[in-house]
Order: sequence, then C-alpha cells, then structure tokens
Amino acid sequence: MFSKVAARSFSSSATNAYKVAVLGAGGGIGQPLSLLLKLNHKVTDLALYDIKGAPGVAADVSHVPTNSTVKGYNPDQLKEALTGADVIVIPAGVPRKPGMTRDDLFNTNASIVRDLAKAAAEYAPEAALAIISNPVNSTVPIVAEVFKSKGVYNPKKLFGVTTLDVLRASRFVSEIAGTDPVNEHVSVVGGHSGITIIPLFSQTTHKDLPADKRDALVHRIQFGGDEVVKAKDGAGSATLSMAQAGARFTGALLNGLAGEKDVIECTFVESPLFKDEGVEFFSSKVTLGPEGVKQVHDLGNLSDYEDGLVKTAKETLIQNIKKGTEFVKQNP
Ligand code: NAD
Ligand code: LMR
Repeated sequence: MFSKVAARSFSSSATNAYKVAVLGAGGGIGQPLSLLLKLNHKVTDLALYDIKGAPGVAADVSHVPTNSTVKGYNPDQLKEALTGADVIVIPAGVPRKPGMTRDDLFNTNASIVRDLAKAAAEYAPEAALAIISNPVNSTVPIVAEVFKSKGVYNPKKLFGVTTLDVLRASRFVSEIAGTDPVNEHVSVVGGHSGITIIPLFSQTTHKDLPADKRDALVHRIQFGGDEVVKAKDGAGSATLSMAQAGARFTGALLNGLAGEKDVIECTFVESPLFKDEGVEFFSSKVTLGPEGVKQVHDLGNLSDYEDGLVKTAKETLIQNIKKGTEFVKQNP
C-alpha cells in the first residue's frame, strides 16, 4: 500500500491520490456520502469526522474493497482529520422538520459551520471546501468570513453544494417529458433555497414548455426539498439523493484538481456576475481546475421569465449573504 506521499510521487504533477475529509460523517448525508466517496478511486485517504459515531461509520465503510484508507475521528481529533486534506466536505448540522425554512436552521448551523471553518482555516487552509450544511446561501459566506479573519481566504477554493438542485431539475423534467434523466443537462443558478433556485430550461430542449407546465416544474425544483421533508415527517430532509449529489460534486472537484479538462458544475461561489449589485456569492456554471475555480461562467441568454426570477433572487441572496457575514463579525 502506498502512503499518500508515495502515491503522489508515483504519479506525475497532477495526482490521482487525494485526502478527503467529511465533517458530519455520522449523519444522514454523511454516511451514504462516505460510502460513495469510498467508491471514488481518486480518494485514497478518507477521513470521517463527527461529534458522534464517526469511528463506527469508518470501520463499516473501510470494508468496501477499494484501494484507500478510511479512518474515523472523534471530537478531540479534528486536527488529525483535517491535516493534509485536499477537499473538505461539510454536511454537519441539523436538518429541517416540516414547517421550517432553511433559514430557520441558521441559529444552530451557523455556529457549527463557523467552528468547523475555524479548524479548517487552521489545519487545512489550502483545501477546497464543499459546504452542504444549510442554509447554504448563508453558510458559505460564514466560511468565507472566517477564512478572511484568519488571512487565508481563497475564493477559488470555497463552494456551496447546489448539485441536488441540478439532479432534481434533470429528474423532474424527465418525468414530464418522458425522457431519460441521464440525458438531461439543466443549469440551475442563483442559490440554494426556494425562489433563489433558478433552473434555466430556456437553454435546454424544453424551452417551449407551456407556461403553466413550466411554472409548475420550476416550482417543484425550487421546493423539492420540502417534498422530502414532508414525506420524512420529522425524521429529517434529503439524505440519499444529497449523498449522490455530494459525491458527484466532490468527484468533480477532484477531477478538476487532477487537471482533467472541461469539468463543469453549477455551484455557489464568490462570483463576479452580480458583485456590482451587491451579490457577492452566486451559483452558476463553474469550470473546475487544479486551482479550484478556473472560470465562473456567465448565465448565457435568459428568457424574460428567467430574467425576472434572477432579479427577485438577487434581493433574497443579498439578505442571506449579509446574514452570514454579519454573524461572523458579531460572533467571531
Ligand atoms: P443529520 O442530523 O442526519 O446529520 C448531521 C450530522 O452532523 C450528525 O451526525 C451530527 O452529529 C453532525 N454534527 C453536528 N454538529 C457537528 C459538529 N460540530 N462537528 C461535526 N459534526 C457535527 O443531518 P443531515 O440530514 O445529514 O443534514 C445535514 C445538513 O445538510 C443539514 O443542515 C441539512 O439541511 C443540509 N442539507 C443540505 C443539502 C444541500 O443541497 N446543500 C441537502 C440536504 C441537506
Ligand atoms: C434539500 O434541498 O433537500 C436540502 O436543502 C434540505 C432541505 O432542507 O430541503
């Protein structure tokens, strides 16, 4: 078995051996996400951290026969879990119950994410961070603010995971169009909550959907999370589909780090697109590369309908982003 260092020197400059740390690995998302990451051959060192249960998850996942080491870490071992990580995925935090908005999670999850970000800034300041914990529109700015306060912020390495919205868009449109979702590629831009989730069907073969069908489809994607929260009836929110989304996004990050060509995902990043209007973070297609963000794509041509959705989303995003930033300023 190669150590990480040996494995790295084995390949050329672009490596295929990466340490991925999952913070919140014992949870509903963390467990299946860890399993899916164990199946990714680029992940050679999988570090599973949680305030409870991570060693058990690690022991279980470690029996899956792929050529990687898996280790579980308890609360007093966060430093070891993070040290040397190339990618840190964060699904730590509480999920919604019926009747709650994602913003209702802010009071609990903001401090969880802030504290994990502090540790990441100290022990793995160069790692790429993929933030799953809700409300993503605010938790990503929280991480940015923590990293800024420690002098190690690199906007090219911070990502809000919005991939579940992309999965839902392809799945839901395929259900009404009778197509194979594998062949559906829908950009979803904006943010990750309600009206800030904007699928761009005008850029797909479904651009001529009748307005009523289109509105219903867009609404279902924007509020797809609520479907799961309601069906789980108090037992949490999307975990399995989110694990798939998180594994896809982490895989894309690793493909980018490895220097593969044309790695593009929609993700919530510090964005030039609407910065002059005060929207510091925005989700759009992003090309991923060895440095993290290689290129933030503009939105392309939008229909008048989509243009209207973007305008409204910007107002909410400005508030959500400010809430995260102010939280860290007031509670450093
Ligand atoms: P869960 O309660 O099942 O798991 C959360 C895990 O986080 C638990 O194991 C808990 O012990 C752990 N945890 C709590 N505080 C921690 C800390 N300080 N350090 C490390 N671990 C800690 O919840 P879940 O269903 O896995 O959801 C997790 C989060 O992901 C929620 O905030 C949820 O809203 C969010 N989520 C986001 C998306 C998205 O698309 N971005 C999708 C689904 C869920
Ligand atoms: C989702 O979109 O499923 C997640 O953000 C979880 C939630 O609270 O809906």
